[in-house]
Amino acid sequence: MSKRVLTTESGAPVADNQNSASAGVGGPLLLQDQHLLEKLARFNRERIPERVVHARGSGAYGHFEVTDDVTGFTHADFLSAVGKRTEVFLRFSTVADSLGGADAVRDPRGFAVKFYTAEGNYDLVGNNTPVFFIKDPIKFPDFIHSQKRDPFTGRQEPDNVWDFWAHAPEATHQVTWLMGDRGIPASYRHMNGYGSHTYQWTNADGEAFFVKYHFKTNQGIRCLSAEQGAELAGKDPNSHQTDLLQAIERGVHPSWTLYVQLMPAAEAADFRFNPFDLTKVWPHKDYPLQRVGRLVLDRNPDNVFAEVEQAAFSPNNFVPGIGPSPDKMLQGRLFAYADAHRYRLGVNHTQLAVNTPKATVADNYGRDGFMASNSQGRAAKNYEPNSYDGPVQTGRPLSAPLAVNGHTGTHEAPLHTKDDDFFQAGELYRLMSAEEKSRLIANIAGGLSQVSRDDVIEKNLAHFHAADPEYGKRVEEAVRALRED
Ligand code: HEM
Repeated sequence: MSKRVLTTESGAPVADNQNSASAGVGGPLLLQDQHLLEKLARFNRERIPERVVHARGSGAYGHFEVTDDVTGFTHADFLSAVGKRTEVFLRFSTVADSLGGADAVRDPRGFAVKFYTAEGNYDLVGNNTPVFFIKDPIKFPDFIHSQKRDPFTGRQEPDNVWDFWAHAPEATHQVTWLMGDRGIPASYRHMNGYGSHTYQWTNADGEAFFVKYHFKTNQGIRCLSAEQGAELAGKDPNSHQTDLLQAIERGVHPSWTLYVQLMPAAEAADFRFNPFDLTKVWPHKDYPLQRVGRLVLDRNPDNVFAEVEQAAFSPNNFVPGIGPSPDKMLQGRLFAYADAHRYRLGVNHTQLAVNTPKATVADNYGRDGFMASNSQGRAAKNYEPNSYDGPVQTGRPLSAPLAVNGHTGTHEAPLHTKDDDFFQAGELYRLMSAEEKSRLIANIAGGLSQVSRDDVIEKNLAHFHAADPEYGKRVEEAVRALRED
């Protein structure tokens, strides 16, 4: 069999890939050595800006199959019939560390799904936690700054991490979750995924429902203790990547069952707490889980950079039958992601193979920019309306309109009858077994006791006390014991 010929980027055969061209045997190198120049120049340009959060991640392809009829709640095409299959790409991630960080750390995990539907790509960009630390997007850059490396010390600082939380009582629920047993998943396969936000579904009659998504792992939940995590992070920083890659290569295809909680839109205004508050879950006894389908991952990407690093998910990529809720955090995210993609990948990132629609085509008047490869067809017009049979609007909104009232202004989120920042953190604490509680207390105290300022410690303790008096007392005692050591 003849060997494949190595070529330059323009396709010309390469004569020598071991020795640069030089002026004489021991002389300096020649500018005319195109292969050398191209190789060195391309190497210098291999890196792109990493994601500002969720930099480290792993991805895989698979499909979503509908198992239960949900057509009474949404007219989304990919959910329109039991048995219907849609190709998906899922990227998992850690949040706070940079690209080279370790996987087995205490941190939320990203769970971002791209459904390549016949009505466009639907991105559900969630986490492995049903809630989040804050409820207004204006706090997000401050929050992330406090969790990533300090600009002076260049390290993650317990002072910053806890100082932010000292000023964010609404974080108490998510902090309780993160410091608990699920804070370090054993692998990406052994954790749930959540849409976390409240979204909106609209059915064919125009009726609106608010919806929360839960992907339950069929591998079972498995977590690591703080000690196991520290050991694994040191031994194999790529432990989650290794696990996912090897499972799929072995033909062990991880899967999740998708459930939703559905609230008729009219019930939102009078619900006992704000149903659009991302720091809270909806109790299952109010809105039980209803099964929708099964998501399976069965194919690793051929090239991690091309398909995982360049993957671009935006919570603003909706399809007909699905839309946003008034959750302020979600509203902020509707802007942030595509903006990040334009910076990180360029304006034509939607033309990259992993991001481009697969079950339909993008047909519009967006044109040009760096690296444009979609000509939109021969002699296609680049303005609309036109007289040349170009694509036209449908006149059908993707989702139902949201009712609004009042005046513009920088309002706090509306308070419902039973709304505070602590009761769900207390409920979560009281749900835990005695052993789980002890591990939770030890994890919190291990971090909080490292904080240098007493006032920051006091403010955090007040949050745990407000969640549950026993919880607060135990954290306080554990922190005191560690600081006296
Ligand atoms: C206002 C709040 C938030 C803002 C402004 C924000 C912003 C961002 C930005 C700029 C990125 C990087 C995107 C990229 O470069 O491709 C990102 C990634 C991500 N965010 Fe957020 N985020 C917020 C809250 C959340 C929440 C609440 C969740 C989960 C419920 C979440 C889940 C993710 C995930 C999973 C990724 C990684 C997506 C991927 O795999 O490419 N974020 N976020």
